[in-house]
Amino acid sequence: IPGRNAFGVIPAFVDQPVFAVEEAIFKGEAVAAIVGTAAAIKRFDPTTFPVTWQPLEASQTPDAALAPTSHFIQPGRPKNTLVEGHVERGNATEALVGAVHTITQRFTTPFIEHAYIEPEAGYARRVGDRVEIYGCTQAPHMDREAVADILGIPRGDVRVMASACGGGFGSKLDLSFQPFVAIAAWALNRPVAIAYTRTESMASTTKRHPSDITITVACDLNGKLRATDFEGVFNTGAYASWGPTVANRVPVHASGPYFTPNYRAHSKAVLTNNPPAGAFRGFGVPQSMVALECTLDLLAERAGMDQLEFRLLNALRNGQPTATGQVFQMGVGIVECLEALRPAWEKAKQPQLRPPHIKRGVGLATCWYGCGNTSLPNPSTIRIGITRDGDVVLHQGAIDIGQGANTVITQIAADAFGIPVHQFKLVGTDTDKTPDAGKTSASRQTFVSGNAAKKSGEALRAQILREANVSDDAKLTIADGKITIGNRTITLHDRPVNPHGYVFMAEETYDPPTKPLDALGQGEPYAVYGYGAQLVELDVDIKLGTIKLIKITAAHDVGRAINPMLVEGQIEGGIAQGIGMALMEDYIPGRTENLHDYLIPTFGDMPEITSIIIEVEDGHGPYGAKGLGEHVLIPTAPAILNAIRKATGALVRHLPATPDKVLAAIHEVERS
Ligand code: MOS
Repeated sequence: IPGRNAFGVIPAFVDQPVFAVEEAIFKGEAVAAIVGTAAAIKRFDPTTFPVTWQPLEASQTPDAALAPTSHFIQPGRPKNTLVEGHVERGNATEALVGAVHTITQRFTTPFIEHAYIEPEAGYARRVGDRVEIYGCTQAPHMDREAVADILGIPRGDVRVMASACGGGFGSKLDLSFQPFVAIAAWALNRPVAIAYTRTESMASTTKRHPSDITITVACDLNGKLRATDFEGVFNTGAYASWGPTVANRVPVHASGPYFTPNYRAHSKAVLTNNPPAGAFRGFGVPQSMVALECTLDLLAERAGMDQLEFRLLNALRNGQPTATGQVFQMGVGIVECLEALRPAWEKAKQPQLRPPHIKRGVGLATCWYGCGNTSLPNPSTIRIGITRDGDVVLHQGAIDIGQGANTVITQIAADAFGIPVHQFKLVGTDTDKTPDAGKTSASRQTFVSGNAAKKSGEALRAQILREANVSDDAKLTIADGKITIGNRTITLHDRPVNPHGYVFMAEETYDPPTKPLDALGQGEPYAVYGYGAQLVELDVDIKLGTIKLIKITAAHDVGRAINPMLVEGQIEGGIAQGIGMALMEDYIPGRTENLHDYLIPTFGDMPEITSIIIEVEDGHGPYGAKGLGEHVLIPTAPAILNAIRKATGALVRHLPATPDKVLAAIHEVERS
């Protein structure tokens, strides 16, 4: 390693080596890279590589790692605790004592694999004293900085170009293949490529954090929520990755989109000898909402209320403080989402004619999710230029990981500037050519980069209006090397260009307004939240414990649907991953190594999905738009568990709800 043998996604937590030194602390860590021609690598027998292994004691669960007898996973973290998060408002302890109805439950969820279609892959080449990396990523500028530090060269000497991304879901925010190809290309001065096998991908890159959550929720006689107390332990694996982000996001979101006057939520990320747990669609919030939403269902029943009415009664409204004390005067759309499910809810509750061993159930759950980094700056910059030929070039650095950023950012720029979408030429993500639009993460691109694109489009339009001295609403067309605006024409080919080669250019930045959280987690962590609610109808075979999903109705408040088809795509994809989380997926570190043993939903497992797009305008989002990418996964698993319970009386508390666990839960109810 020419520079620093360490990387990480959060500056204070750069703890992962490119190559393990002396000890590998999880099974799947690299110790060396073997580089050769394709033919030589094919002949290479890894068993002949001169490394000898000596097994050491492993702590694979938080319980084991927190035991006083445990070894230290990492030097410098003597309690094996990476970080803790805390949010507190009112007095939960007191409110719980005085409450009429109180329910306490414990839930666990396992490691979950992202299982994107495309494993980590890319190549690097050395160009003089610079290195270029081409491959899949969610965070090109972060990759550039991290690789520069590993190589010990200036950041400007690393160029990252993003390939089309076959799925990221959070894991491709971290480095994987980049250091290996960069170091090899640097040392050998030849292009070097790697494509992970599925086994390598599953063994070595980040997973969803397993959770162990104990939650108590209380309401008064009329079903009004009084208090929530939440304690979550998250297994963060061997290295930090996004563990601190999960630990911070969880207590902010564990109230759900409900007005909760008394609240205490605490989270802890515990280091273990497992692959690093990192970012995975929702940063710990999906795990937390399993606990909250399943407990709320029980509480509604205890209070003698319909589950939808109970949620509506307690849903956060404009003007009410969130658990962090933030008050939104507009844009809180959870009531609208729940109301949109009412017809389906009433219909689904009608008795169904089924064979005796098949039980129909219908379940509800909600989500809310803050868009963008938690109380941290996360600016995006978008550039638009017009060439002498009349080409309109959009420098769009917001990585499209399949969610549609290339489409949505262009649509917003087109509306703001005032020309059709098809007239834009896209310059894709390349750290040499696209300004930093931040990472594709935290459901931030439509909101943050969308705002930057809107500002750029408007600024470019303003320049041309000024130049032509015409009114604001003048119609703008660009054709044949000429801009026509109102009754004026600007000929482009003989005009001077700026250093970027543009006659006109705008480059604007947007950074969401947030405020830091204090010691009790009070503050304004996000400028915008998105909201949603899902309803699941399913059949349980009580002899076999199998689940057949019948229908899912999903209402999501996106503020403004910039592209309704992409919104539906996100909803359907998120639900598919939520189904996997609820019913199938269970990654066992050191053992799970292929997609035969690790089951994810196929289209054969997908029920009919009805997407209902709700548009409650937001004050900050471009044209009122809010983020959506992560929200859509969050309600699915708890809604499924609630539906299973409605069908059978049995609540499965330990995911996934595989047939053996469903049967065990049913038998437990029968025995009690
Ligand atoms: Mo996501 S977990 O912000 O890629």
